[in-house]
Amino acid sequence: MTSIAELGEARVADSSGLVVEGPIGGIAVRLDAPAPSPGDDLPAKFKRSYAGSRVLITGGMGFIGGHVARRLVGLGAEVSVFDADVSKDRLSIVNDPSEALRSRLSLVRGDIRFAADLQAVLAVPFDYVFHFAAYAVIECSTQHPVDTIETNALGVVNLLEALRHAPWRPKSITFASTDKVYGEMGTSSYSEESPLRGIGVYDAAKLAGDVFARMYSEVFGLPTVVIRLCNVFGPHDHNVAFRLIPKALSRIYRGDDPEPPVLYYDSLNHWRDYIYVDDAVDAFLLVGSRNRCRGHVYNVAAATHAPTAQILKDLVDCAAALEASHDPKRRAAIERNGIRIEMRNGVPGVVAIDRQHLDGSKLRALGFAPKTSFADGLARTVAFYRSLYRPPPERCADCIDDREALARA
Ligand SMILES: NC(=O)c1ccc[n+]([C@@H]2O[C@H](COP(=O)([O-])OP(=O)(O)OC[C@H]3O[C@@H](n4cnc5c(N)ncnc54)[C@H](O)[C@@H]3O)[C@@H](O)[C@H]2O)c1
Repeated sequence: MTSIAELGEARVADSSGLVVEGPIGGIAVRLDAPAPSPGDDLPAKFKRSYAGSRVLITGGMGFIGGHVARRLVGLGAEVSVFDADVSKDRLSIVNDPSEALRSRLSLVRGDIRFAADLQAVLAVPFDYVFHFAAYAVIECSTQHPVDTIETNALGVVNLLEALRHAPWRPKSITFASTDKVYGEMGTSSYSEESPLRGIGVYDAAKLAGDVFARMYSEVFGLPTVVIRLCNVFGPHDHNVAFRLIPKALSRIYRGDDPEPPVLYYDSLNHWRDYIYVDDAVDAFLLVGSRNRCRGHVYNVAAATHAPTAQILKDLVDCAAALEASHDPKRRAAIERNGIRIEMRNGVPGVVAIDRQHLDGSKLRALGFAPKTSFADGLARTVAFYRSLYRPPPERCADCIDDREALARA
């Protein structure tokens, strides 16, 4: 078990490949010029693969699926989103007031628990399928185990069965799995070959979906690819009730007076990997477009591996710094509040994993490298939530879209 005393070693190298020394006289010193990243040519490759293609995204109204949809539309793909809730009223990256994205998507309301819904949407052929639809919050899954298993495990089977019987084959079917399938470790990091010990409701149901995706490749030859994601963060994650970063930022910005983010005492020793959402999108588009990835599993490792306490401290520092140019009173309150540590008697049924750390070398060998440092990603994320909750003019480029939906919600 890791002790809180290890907090000091939380920082890892800047993912851009820069070597950045600590501040000297308040100025960060860049020692090395950026090395060309092996992923620098990815945008051109993605354009070649996806422009003009037909893509189905399940769960495309959600956080990651929505970002994938936005990127693919930008690349010139014809994107269909299949989601249980495609309403205009929900908070989603898709629901920008100008409908710039929404109007360029084909939106299909459907439930992956129902085979008929999937058969209907798959009546037309797709070149690529990305599967994100899921119960994606651990606490909600634990409250609804049967629904979770029907959605996260059997829903995958429904999708793959419908694809198996379709009179056409997509080039790839990419499944969003999770680092939670590995369960608790005790060693330094998990490779794709590590044992799968996920035992919580969410973890086990995703693990079953992960196994089924590989089974349909082995047994029926479907071109499935499994991505095991670490924690993804960024703008437009509207799971603010439970997820660490959105929840903390909604506490800081939602009310007239900021509330301190809460760090639960039982999470003090938790370490997690964090990747910025744009980098996670790159990983999906990369494996989806490569023939050699079919039938394989890839870990998407972090730009940053850090304890939960450090993440919240960075978030508070970042929010306070941003506030300097907006509202000095709020800045003082954010700094005064700091982080609140609370005791709780465990969340019934939630199996919390202490340390999660993915080995991402298999995906890196394909040319993938996270481009966004944790600090940059956090700054963009904080600016987004500030702009979502606080009145104009404090808006940022990422965020204008969701304000109207928030007002309606
Ligand atoms: N966000 C992360 O940090 C993270 C990490 C690892 C894995 N994942 C996986 O990535 C995927 C996307 O996660 P997210 O953060 O975007 O979640 P999200 O909750 O924002 O999006 C999930 C979407 O699925 C839809 N959905 C739920 N049940 C459905 C059903 N029965 N039929 C059709 N649609 C349904 C929801 O309406 C929602 O739009 C999930 O499969 C999740 O398990 C996410």
